[in-house]
Amino acid sequence: MINNSKIISHSPLIERFPFPFKGDSYRYSNNSEALEPPFLLDITPEYFKEIEQKRHLLKTRKEQCYQSFSHSLEGQWEILEMIINEMTSLYPNYFSLKKNKNHWTFCNHLLKEEQSFIFGNSSSLPYEPLDFIGRHIQEDLIYIAQRDGDLYMDAGQLCFPANWSIAFNLGMTYTEFHSPVPYFSDSGLAEKVRNFLLRIEAGKPWTRLNWTLTVEPILDTFPETFDEWGAKKEKVTSENAGQLVHLRVEDQRLFRLPRSNGILFSIHTHLISLDELRKNEEWINRFYRVLTDLPDYIAQYKGFISYKDKIISYLEKIIKTKEGVIK
Ligand code: HEM
Repeated sequence: MINNSKIISHSPLIERFPFPFKGDSYRYSNNSEALEPPFLLDITPEYFKEIEQKRHLLKTRKEQCYQSFSHSLEGQWEILEMIINEMTSLYPNYFSLKKNKNHWTFCNHLLKEEQSFIFGNSSSLPYEPLDFIGRHIQEDLIYIAQRDGDLYMDAGQLCFPANWSIAFNLGMTYTEFHSPVPYFSDSGLAEKVRNFLLRIEAGKPWTRLNWTLTVEPILDTFPETFDEWGAKKEKVTSENAGQLVHLRVEDQRLFRLPRSNGILFSIHTHLISLDELRKNEEWINRFYRVLTDLPDYIAQYKGFISYKDKIISYLEKIIKTKEGVIK
């Protein structure tokens, strides 16, 4: 087993957590920003644990976690190349690539794994290219094809979904896969965001943070297993909310793929318990203000309306008495 203490920084979660709120109020908006530096990968101390979990899910529930159309293969190879280039240039101690024309050998030194293959020949890999490369990084990867002026979900490896399903969404257009989001379509925001996506340029990636709440630190909240994780919401009380309730933040990134003209949508999911979030007084106070100001339609869609009052009374206790605000 590799000694990861030497290679992956172990800064405390509270210092590296992507806190999503810029103000005291949250509404749906196009909160995308230019991605600086323009890279997809974020390797955190959770790398080994999450890769193991991803691979276990892919082994036991493949159809739930991975779906693709055969016409997505060209885009998939482009994604594999882009990600391997990034891996080897940003983290040369962790990953390397040897190329002899189209005979490539990829090495993951963290996992002590080596794979040789012929670039562009899918039968030379154990899995499809998107599925292969996704098994080496923490991010979920969705390939969106752009054709006839529209955007289609043509492939995806999605192991850590916030209650949506690649098996259900495969083949949908942008408008279709966003249709469950309340207000999004009716308000005209969906159309604005669609036009923004259609115009994303190669070399100018974007990022946005999305958030929700999850009971217990569960990354794989699939709709298909709702009966397992959804029932946990009933356990939340104002006494245990600090340990049970987790702020779940998705660091989403968008890249135009110049050869296929598709878009790569990556999702890196981070979880932090409210007890941990309390270590940052400004954040926990802001979270309280966001929650008390949040319209019901958003709390309903995000799935925490049934225990929102429990979280609020937990927050009021710790904020008013200040007993729990740890510096
Ligand atoms: C191609 C890129 C994108 C893909 C593949 C994508 C996909 C999705 C999916 C599958 C959902 C869940 C819908 C459900 O409940 O079944 C969702 C939710 C949502 N998306 Fe996107 N999306 C993309 C880009 C964006 C962008 C750029 C915005 C900017 C505003 C956005 C805004 C939202 C919002 C507000 C929600 C609701 C999330 C929540 O409240 O937790 N999406 N998206």
